[in-house]
Parts: sequence; C-alpha cells; structure tokens
Amino acid sequence: MDRYVVIGNPIAHSQSPFIHGAFAEQTGQAMSYERLLLPLDHFQGGLSEFVRSGGRGCNITVPFKTDALAVADELSERAALAEAVNTLKVLEDGRLLADNTDGAGLVMDLHRLGGALAGRRILLLGAGGAARGVMGPLLAERPAALVVANRTEMRAEALAKRFAGLGPVSHQPLEGLADTFDLIINSTSASLQGERLALPASLCHSGTQVYDMMYGREETPFLQWAAEQGVQDRFDGLGMLVGQAAESFYLWRGVRPDMAPVLQALRARLE
Ligand code: ATR
Repeated sequence: MDRYVVIGNPIAHSQSPFIHGAFAEQTGQAMSYERLLLPLDHFQGGLSEFVRSGGRGCNITVPFKTDALAVADELSERAALAEAVNTLKVLEDGRLLADNTDGAGLVMDLHRLGGALAGRRILLLGAGGAARGVMGPLLAERPAALVVANRTEMRAEALAKRFAGLGPVSHQPLEGLADTFDLIINSTSASLQGERLALPASLCHSGTQVYDMMYGREETPFLQWAAEQGVQDRFDGLGMLVGQAAESFYLWRGVRPDMAPVLQALRARLE
C-alpha cells in the first residue's frame, strides 16, 4: 500500500490523517496516511529514512516548511514564491517534487464561500510565512487591490515589494488603516494567542466578508471583532485546511476529492 505521512513537531494535534483517510475512502485509493514526529534537528535524516522505506509523499508542517525547500529536487513556482513547502511527492525516479498548496487551499475555500475574487478589494492582515504562502494564489485571482497590513510595517512593505510584479499589491500600517474592503483575511497568529488586533470599524461595509486562517471550537477573536462590526459573512480556516489537503491529494493521486463531506465531518469531530 502506498504510504504517506504528515511531518511536524509537534504533530499529535494534526487533523491531516483524518482528512486524507476520508479522501482515500471517498475516492477508493489504496493508501495509508500517518503522523510522523521528527526531532527538530533531524528533518533531513528522518525524511530520507521515510523515502528509503518506500514512502510516496508527505505533508510538511511547522516548523519544517522552510527546511523542506532545501531537500527539493524540483520546486513548483508557487512553493518558490511562498519560500515554503507543505507537500513533497516522491517521483518515479526517486527525485523529490516540492509544492505549496496552502494558497490554493485558501482560494478554493474562498470560491466555495463567496464566488469569484476578481475585482474585489482584499485586505491581508499579517506579513509572516502564512501571508507569504497565499499572496501569489490570491493575486492570480485578479483582485482590484490586495493591501497587506502588519504590526511591523517593514515586513508588510517587504512582502508588497516582493509580489509587486504579480498584481495590484500595496501595504498600509495596521494602525491607521483607512479604506474599506470587500474581503479581509487574517493571517496573523494573534488569534492563536487569544489576542485581538486593534482594527478600525471603518474597514467593513455591509457586504464585507471576513476570513480567519486560524480555526477553533469558538469563534476566533478576529471573527468576534467582525461580528461586533455587524459582519454577517465570517469564516474560519477549517475549509482552507481541507482545501490544501485536497490539492496535495490531487498532486499525489491525480484524483480530486470532494471537500464538502470531509469538511462537514471534520467540523463535527472538532465540536
Ligand atoms: P506565520 O508563519 O504563522 O505567519 P510568523 O511568520 O511568525 O508566523 O508571523 C506571524 C504574524 O502574525 C506576523 O505578521 C506578526 O506580526 P509582526 O510581523 O509584527 O510580528 C503577526 N502577529 C502575531 N501576533 C500579533 C499580535 N498580537 N498583534 C498583531 N500582529 C501579530
């Protein structure tokens, strides 16, 4: 049976085995998918052992997404842009193909929730690795504007510069954001620490959608803030998690699974 794993540290919390197990069952693929905890200083060695023992592919999560760049024999364009890898596929000749499906997963979920992104004004909060991973795929959707805002403004500026050739991207300071937006995406880790971003109410109009790349049992602090502004369309990142998995699954198996029933089962499992 073809073997796949998700590699991280820590990894016990990962929902990927559940998601890929459900995809495999749904599409009739004979494969296994497990968690693989690797010591912080043993990513390359641990990965080599997995490949030598017949592994066909893996997902990579925190803190190894940048380390995985270095092991690639072939790098997809979106992984190169993101400077991070979340998916490796062992090719027929044993070489490693590295990809990043995070941005595609987000875009897939945004399409499911609200249709086309073309012509919309998007605000991206945060300028860390999570933001960098989704900017290329967001710009490929041809929004009217993509504004990056970050607590440390220099990082937003650097990110806007890096992606300037791909579309209408600009940056603004987090404090003092002035415009309104059709879609606001939170990529900061503030929600993880239970912290709130200091955001002005004027960011939202009556039809604004908000999306937090984080998820949890309760609404995240960012989504709570949006609720207080009267925003109806509030979404967490569970659909992005399933979306990025679906894209990895397609890369490995050549089959596109149906996200909806798996997302529903995962939501029920987390409640
Ligand atoms: P990741 O890979 O998850 O993006 P990261 O690269 O450490 O992690 O980036 C974390 C992001 O969350 C950054 O944009 C960070 O802002 P700074 O660049 O100013 O550090 C943002 N962030 C984290 N906690 C925050 C908070 N309490 N308020 C505002 N922004 C926060």
